[in-house]
Amino acid sequence: MTADFDTIVNLSKRRGFVFQSSEIYGGIRSAYDYGPLGAALLRNVKEAWWRSMVQQRGDVVGIDSAIIQARKVWQASGHEATFTDPLVECQNCHTRHRLDKLENPEQCPTCGKSGTFTEPKHFNLMFRTHTGPVESDDNMVYLRPETAQGIFINYENVRRTNRLQLPFGIAQVGKSFRNEITPGQFVFRTREFDQMEMEYFCRPEEAPKWFDYWRGERFNWYLDLGMKEENLRIRDHEQDELSHYSVQTVDIDYAFPWGWDELEGLANRTDYDLRAHSEASGQDLRYYDAVADERFFPYVIEPAAGATRATFAFLMDAYHSEEVAGDTRVVLKLDPRLAPYQVAVLPLSKKPELLGPATELADRLRKDFMLELDVTQSIGRRYRRQDEIGTPYAITYDFESLDDSAVTVRDRDTMAQDRVSLDRLTDYLSQRL
Ligand code: GAP
Repeated sequence: MTADFDTIVNLSKRRGFVFQSSEIYGGIRSAYDYGPLGAALLRNVKEAWWRSMVQQRGDVVGIDSAIIQARKVWQASGHEATFTDPLVECQNCHTRHRLDKLENPEQCPTCGKSGTFTEPKHFNLMFRTHTGPVESDDNMVYLRPETAQGIFINYENVRRTNRLQLPFGIAQVGKSFRNEITPGQFVFRTREFDQMEMEYFCRPEEAPKWFDYWRGERFNWYLDLGMKEENLRIRDHEQDELSHYSVQTVDIDYAFPWGWDELEGLANRTDYDLRAHSEASGQDLRYYDAVADERFFPYVIEPAAGATRATFAFLMDAYHSEEVAGDTRVVLKLDPRLAPYQVAVLPLSKKPELLGPATELADRLRKDFMLELDVTQSIGRRYRRQDEIGTPYAITYDFESLDDSAVTVRDRDTMAQDRVSLDRLTDYLSQRL
């Protein structure tokens, strides 16, 4: 059985994946804090992305740019003028809504009245703040609403210092901020979130080829990390949905409990951004092809994924519950690369003669694996507890271990148990994790 929305939200809170932000003060809507398990899962998602997009490729490098950038960046990129959502307010119940997301654009989903909406206003999604002690127009800045612009404004720095030749990509993972009109569905749409974006620069005539290539790569990334294929689809954007910078976009959608919704967007941004920054900054950002002796603006193919949103989808997708010996067993079948803990060490008893060597074993294994030493309650309860958070291997240190220098290793998914000698344990786990 797969999970419904409330089950995942409850599991997240109960086991410390995700907490409401500022909870002790009543909470702040649409902001969430990641607890120990959620932080580990989110980090593993971002690392899996970085490994596949940067580490394992010869044609992509990574950067980490500032969140606060000059206002001129967002004027040149078009975000100050056009990064807006259509906002309507119901004059009956005074709730605000995003017009383009309403099922019925005439009817307020909160109070049910029809014909009560104000004319739509273009509401800019960027958060504003000021640098320095005086608040004036001169020092107004935006928190970045996408990590992508940090890449475009560093394009020439990165290309030159790394001697990059087309085609090549620049990747970045980091926080973005949007003052969403209707945040919601838990961590799916928040005002502060993590993005994983890569700008792939290529010759203009090769853009369609690279668009197709990245569509396949990105779809397969989710599959490779264990997401079920039936829960994924690719959807082409209609012409009137395209962002101001894009000539072609597809979304990778996930089957969320409320229906198909976006996990990641893939856009052909053409030379829009480099050209805009060239014109606005006065710096020539054209690429010089020495062989053909020509200068031109490269085109950009952009896979743009949400890390917090993907983390939520991986959590939903991994949830599994089954009957075992008349009992319900909940298992997060997370890929071992994503699981918050890879290994749990469970001494059969809290007696010092077992707890001592089990703690020593845990300390030794911690050098190679993310691990939890779990000592309270029965061994059966502890197995269930580890299953529920997706720990792939649970190691039981029992009284026999004192004599045979071996432990029982239990597989999360099959529940099969192996007796493994302590000197082979690291190799045994490394081969499987
Ligand atoms: N640079 C292009 C760009 O930012 P986007 O489709 O607006 O494109 C990319 O965002 C991804 O970022 C989305 O597919 C989604 O996963 C994530 N994302 C966007 N807004 C979000 C929000 N308010 N909360 C959580 N994730 C969000």
